[in-house]
Amino acid sequence: MPFVVAVDGPAGSGKSSISKEVARRLGFGFLDTGAAYRALAWHALAIGADTDDAASVISSLSSFDYRIGTDPAGYAVHVGEVDVTEAIRDPAISAVVSRVARVPEVRAHLIELFRASMATTPKPGIVVEGRDITTVVAPDAPVRILLTASEAVRIARRSAELVGPSADTAGEQLRRRDQADSKVVDFMTAAEGVTTVDSTDLDFDQTVEAVIGVIRTAQ
Ligand code: C5P
Repeated sequence: MPFVVAVDGPAGSGKSSISKEVARRLGFGFLDTGAAYRALAWHALAIGADTDDAASVISSLSSFDYRIGTDPAGYAVHVGEVDVTEAIRDPAISAVVSRVARVPEVRAHLIELFRASMATTPKPGIVVEGRDITTVVAPDAPVRILLTASEAVRIARRSAELVGPSADTAGEQLRRRDQADSKVVDFMTAAEGVTTVDSTDLDFDQTVEAVIGVIRTAQ
């Protein structure tokens, strides 16, 4: 098993971009688990499943042919032959992904895929980021980090990423998604043994350095 760095945090905390850069600098693999839930939401919509109906979501799993690379350099997400790397970032996907992710059968199915990806990465280590990595997916990881930032800063970062919606819409969506998601897993407070990195007053590079500092201490 490679050296696992588990990173959790709320929407807009910068976990994906920070984790990917940390992985790149350390020569580690990178796994964005939120992208898998997003890819399933994309697939469910594409085949006309009802995302409000758990049974309909569960049945969409049987045709969910999903592939995600663990190389931070060539990061791409595919469903079947379709490259959905960009499409899964659409606000329409963000709006429904929590409904898909709250279904226990979905979580069990994806967690198995995550563990398989972790075990087979060709790199010496892997940074895995999401909401339940430190607590459910890899609770025994040698490094477990909760990446946080104040809500105002997270909303500002998320709205800067989006092209279409106004800051208000982005902020409202982020709040709603965190509320829905935290009913399923707690990623707002650090579990025992998890190190909190608060990026509110840090820029991108300082946050990357802070995370690498935590990893170095454990290695
Ligand atoms: O990290 P990101 O915002 O892309 O995650 C998209 C969605 O996937 C979250 O809002 C949440 O519903 C779900 N998710 C999850 N567990 C994870 C990662 C993401 O439920 N480990």
